[in-house]
This record gives sequence, C-alpha cells and structure tokens, in this order.
Amino acid sequence: MLSHTNKGTSLPRSPLLSNHSQLQRGMDLTFNVFSKFLATFMLLGYLTACGGGSATANTQTPAPPTPLSVASALFAEKALSASGQLACASCHTDDNAHADATGTTLPIGGVNMDQQGFRSSPSLLYLASNTAFRFDANGLPFGGFTWDGRANSRAEQTAGPLLDSTEMANADVAAVARKVRGLSYFNDFVSQFNVPAAATDQQIFEKLQTALQAYQELDTDYLLFNSKFDKVADGTATFTAAEQRGLAIFNNPNQGNCASCHTSRNGPNGERPVFTNFSYAALGLPRNPLIQKNADPTFFDMGLCGPKRTDLSARTDLCGQFKVPTLRNIELTAPYFHNASVSTLNDAVGFYATRDIDPGRWYPTVNGTVQKFNDLPVAYRNNVLNTTPFGQQAGAAPLLSAQNVADLVSFLKTLTDDRTAPQGSPTVVAR
Ligand code: HEC
Ligand code: HEC
Repeated sequence: MLSHTNKGTSLPRSPLLSNHSQLQRGMDLTFNVFSKFLATFMLLGYLTACGGGSATANTQTPAPPTPLSVASALFAEKALSASGQLACASCHTDDNAHADATGTTLPIGGVNMDQQGFRSSPSLLYLASNTAFRFDANGLPFGGFTWDGRANSRAEQTAGPLLDSTEMANADVAAVARKVRGLSYFNDFVSQFNVPAAATDQQIFEKLQTALQAYQELDTDYLLFNSKFDKVADGTATFTAAEQRGLAIFNNPNQGNCASCHTSRNGPNGERPVFTNFSYAALGLPRNPLIQKNADPTFFDMGLCGPKRTDLSARTDLCGQFKVPTLRNIELTAPYFHNASVSTLNDAVGFYATRDIDPGRWYPTVNGTVQKFNDLPVAYRNNVLNTTPFGQQAGAAPLLSAQNVADLVSFLKTLTDDRTAPQGSPTVVAR
C-alpha cells in the first residue's frame, strides 16, 4: 500500500488580490484577466483619482502593471503559439479549475490547430505543495509535474506546451522570444520580471517561464481553500447526511481507501489537505478509442515508463503508473483520468467500485473475452493495482455499492471552491 504522507502547503501570500469580482464568472477571458487586473487597482485605491470603479475601462490613467497583471496576460496570450490561436488558458480554463474547457474530450493544438494530444489537461490548482520528482526511501516515486512527473517545477513545465508540436508548437526558444518581444506589453514584462537590457532569446524564454509560474503562485484562484469541505473543517458549515457518509467511505481503509492516495487529513500544523499525496499508481484504465494515436494498436501511453517521459523506460515495473491528481474541484474537470477515458464523475468513482467485479462495463469484449487493462501491453498488466478498493473476483459482491458511489460523489462535490468568495486560510481556522 502506498504510504500516506502529509505535506505542508507553502502558500505564497498574494499581496494584492483578496477577493473576486462577481462579474468574472462566465466572462470572456481577456476581460476576465482585465477585470482581475482592475480589481487589483481598486484594492490599491489607484482609481480614486479617476472617480472610478466603472468596469468599462476608462483608461485615461492606465493602471500601472504588476507581476500578476503581466503574468496573467501571458497565461491568456494566444500570440505565444505558432497558430496564434492557443494560450495556456485555452486548455486550462478559469471556469474549469484550470482544466480543459467544458465539452472538450482531448486538447487540440499544433501549427494548424489540428493535432490532438493524448492526455487530458489536468487542473492546475493546488500544486503549490508539490515538489520535484523523486523516489522516496522505499523507492516509491513521488512529485513532479505533468501526469508522469517529468518536469521538476511549474517553470520547467512551461517548456513542454510552448514547444510541443501538438500544443503551442513553437519551433524553438528563438521563436518564442520573438513572439514575446512583439507583445504590446513587452516593456511591462521587462519591468515586472527584471528582464536584462539586450536580453538573449534564452533569457527572455526563462523570464517567460518565471512569469508563467508566478501567475500560478500569485492568482488566488490557485489556492482558494474556500470549499464546503473547508468550511466544515472550520465549523462554519455542516455536511448533509450523504456527504458525511461519503467522507467516511472515502477515509475507510477497508472500503473506499481513497484517502490513502487522495489525502484528506490536515497536515501537522493544520494545513488543509489537497487530496493528493503526489504519489503514483497504475489503475488499469480502459483504452480511449477517441484518442487518434490509439488507432495504432502498438501505441501505449504508459506514464512513468514512457513514451512522453524517457528517463525511466527501463523501469518496466513502473509502466502504467500516473500521478495521483488533486480531487479539489473535481466536479469541474471532466473528462477524467490521464486518458480522458471516463466522462462523468459518477463513472470515475464507479470505475473504482466495479472495475474488477464487472469488467465488461469498462473494457471491450473480443471473442467472448473481456480485454481487461487493454490500455497497457499484456506484459505490464500485472503492474496494475489490486489493493483496496480493487482486488475482488468478477461477480463478487461489491465493496462499494451504488449507494456508496453516490455518497462518494456527493462528498467529492463539497471540494468545489467558490470563485466569487474570498480566499480561505491555507490552515484550518481554530475555533
Ligand atoms: C493544448 C493544450 C495545452 C496547452 C496550450 C497548455 N497545456 Fe498545460 N497541460 C496540458 C496537458 C495535456 C497536460 C498534461 C501533460 C502530460 O501529462 O504530459 C498539462 C500539464 C500542465 C501542468 C502540470 C500539472 C500537474 O498536475 O502536474 C502545468 C503546470 C501546466 N500544464 C501549465 C501550462 C502552462 C503554463 C501553459 C502555457 C505555457 C500550458 N500549460 C499550456 C494541456 C495544455
Ligand atoms: C492507490 C492510489 C489511489 C487510490 C486508493 C485511489 N485513487 Fe483516485 N486516482 C489515483 C491515480 C493515480 C489517479 C490518476 C490515474 C490515471 O489517470 O491514470 C486517480 C484519479 C482519480 C480521479 C480522476 C481525477 C482526474 O482529475 O481526472 C478520481 C475522481 C478519483 N481518482 C477518485 C478516487 C476515489 C473516489 C477513490 C476511492 C474510492 C480513489 N480515487 C482511490 C490514485 C488513487
């Protein structure tokens, strides 16, 4: 069984934003970024001179830039892609906890916006307490960014999408630097991120990486900690009976056992849990026929052992393992799992309940045989996790009943943040 580690959250305190305009929800992204930017100034009181507060951009006195305003503009900047149509925010949308936009099955990118990726875009929230990739004292993999942990920081990770031919598809660092230099707010970028005079392409690229990480640290949406779950922890809300039952199943090591990977306990100093311990596991998910690459029967996305990650290709014992994602805001981030093979939250939880007792529900049947774990080569199928809540014989009585699944889903929906409300404390508020 994977160990249950509690990690402290190192919360970067946002100096500027403490609440969110009601207007933001559902607004066009550009305006959204702008309104956040504006909210910043309203808080700082800069607009008092203009008699202001109107959200309709009377820019007689342009608001001075801040690291957050510049970095969030860069995150939403389509001009940083070869197609001119794809920003970080296109795949990591504000309204969906910075995961794929509603209705998206798999992200599309490339120079001509016709290249399909083979992994689902994860939520970018609650990653502040994640670390670089490592093997712990027991030799178990932990940490790192992306589904296979191959980037050691959020800054390092940005090189992936900026240069990946199926994503923002820039030819090289020079191409990215050229686009950055061409931005109307390039001078603001220079001033807010201390870009050296006569910076080289490489320096521009690295400062862009710094800025994109800074955005994920400064925007309070990334660590809101104001879900119902958090309020219950603070004693200012109470669970319904179904939510309470769901939490008990989630934590019970002999039933859901979910918390053994999706940490639900506070840290030693009252740090709120982020519902992942950043460990890895092979769940044996069904192959997703909507992934174009899967038309090739010899192609397999095996996570830690490749093909995206290349340094662990000899570790065939790790084939099929992917990083445990946070379950905070899980209600908003369909489709689910690294290969987007499951469309609804009910089914994502249902997979844990019935993968082994009713495999025909999840895998295709060929010549009368259910193709269990068909998204891994046969040689690696025994890497798949068989411990609780898995491991029962086909046809056995369920460890998680349909009612248990419904209760778990009710509980998971308490993990949704309120983007219209102020940020909560990263530690539980003592009563
Ligand atoms: C075409 C869609 C797309 C675009 C554009 C995109 N991403 Fe992603 N993002 C993904 C996918 C898919 C993954 C998972 C990648 C993997 O596992 O190999 C990911 C992973 C990440 C992660 C790691 C999350 C984790 O849980 O470890 C971060 C951070 C991130 N993206 C930030 C960004 C930033 C910053 C940009 C802009 C420079 C960006 N993304 C652009 C689709 C996209
Ligand atoms: C052994 C560790 C482990 C246990 C136990 C576990 N999970 Fe997970 N969970 C994972 C991993 C790893 C993934 C990502 C797998 C992948 O995409 O290949 C995941 C993904 C998920 C997802 C989809 C997340 C997303 O962003 O797409 C949901 C929902 C989920 N788990 C809920 C649960 C529930 C509910 C339980 C208990 C019934 C549970 N998990 C038990 C490791 C675990």
